[in-house]
Amino acid sequence: MNTASEQTTTYQLIDGKKTAEDIKIEIAAEVEKLKTSGQKVPHLAAILVGHDGGSETYVRNKVLACERVGYGSTLLRYEDTITEAELLAKVEELNQDPEIDGFIVQLPLPRHIDPEKVIEAIRPEKDVDGFHPMNIGRMVTGLPALLPATPSGIVELLKRYQIKTSGKHCVVIGRSNIVGTPVSILLAKNLEPGNCTVTLCHSRTANLAEITRQADIVVAALGRPEFVTGDMVKPGAVVIDVGTTRVEDASRKSGFVLKGDVNFAEVAPLASYITPVPGGVGPMTIAMLLLNTLRAAKGEVYPK
Ligand code: GUN
Repeated sequence: MNTASEQTTTYQLIDGKKTAEDIKIEIAAEVEKLKTSGQKVPHLAAILVGHDGGSETYVRNKVLACERVGYGSTLLRYEDTITEAELLAKVEELNQDPEIDGFIVQLPLPRHIDPEKVIEAIRPEKDVDGFHPMNIGRMVTGLPALLPATPSGIVELLKRYQIKTSGKHCVVIGRSNIVGTPVSILLAKNLEPGNCTVTLCHSRTANLAEITRQADIVVAALGRPEFVTGDMVKPGAVVIDVGTTRVEDASRKSGFVLKGDVNFAEVAPLASYITPVPGGVGPMTIAMLLLNTLRAAKGEVYPK
C-alpha cells in the first residue's frame, strides 16, 4: 500500500489542451498549403441524434475545431425519433457526397438504433472515427488505417512528452471498442511509442488493484468517476485519465462538474506524469479527428 511518506515524486502534468492546440496549428498550415495549390479544403460532417448534453458539447467542439483549422464542416441533427432505416439512409448520402471527406455519427445512439449497423454502413475511407471493422482490422494487422481518435491521441501525448514505453507494463482499465481495446492493441504494437507489455482489465478482473500497482503506465478508461485511487498506483507511474463523467454539482453554473476516472488529488503526487480532466485526453480526441479528416481528404490510407 502506498502511504503519504512514499509520495516522493514531483509529477509533470501532460497538457492535452496545449498539445491539441499545437496539432491544430500544424493542421491549419497544411490547409493553407492545400488552398494555395488550388486544392479542395477537407470537409468533416457530424451526425448528432437527440439531445444528450455531453454529445452536444462534443459535437459543437468538433465543428468549432473544424472552423479553427480552416476545414469545411456540416452538422446534421436529428430527433431521437429517427428510425434506424432513416439514419442509415443519411449515412449513405454522406458516403456518396464528394464534398464530404469524412464523417462521424456521435455515440451513444438511441436504444432502438444498432450502433454496429450504423458504423458498418460508413464507408471505411470516410470513417474518420476509425470505428469501422475494416479500420479496426487494418489497425490490428498493422496495415495503414484510420485510427480511433482517443487511442491515437493517447499515443501522441506519450510521443510528444517523450515518455518511454518500450518494455514497460501498461495496464488498461476498460475494454470498450472506442478506447480500452484499441489503445491496448496500439501500445502493444512494435511501434514507437508502443512495445508495451499490456494487461487489459475490465469489470470481471480479479484483484484489480494488485495488477494496477504493477503498472508503469495506467490508462483509466472505464467511465467511473475517481475510480483509480492512490493505493492502486505505483510511485513513478504514468497515469492517463480518459474519463469524462458529468457529476451533478449545484454550486456550478452548468449544474455539473466533469470528473475523470482517476482521483487526481490522491494519485497525482505519486505519478511521474498525469493527464488532468478536463484538459488532458479530451482535447486530443478532437485534434486526432481533425488529423484523420486530413488523411482521409488526402487519400493517405485509401488512395482516391
Ligand atoms: N462518443 C464518445 N466518444 C466518441 C467518439 O470519439 N466518436 C463518436 N462518434 N462518438 C463518441
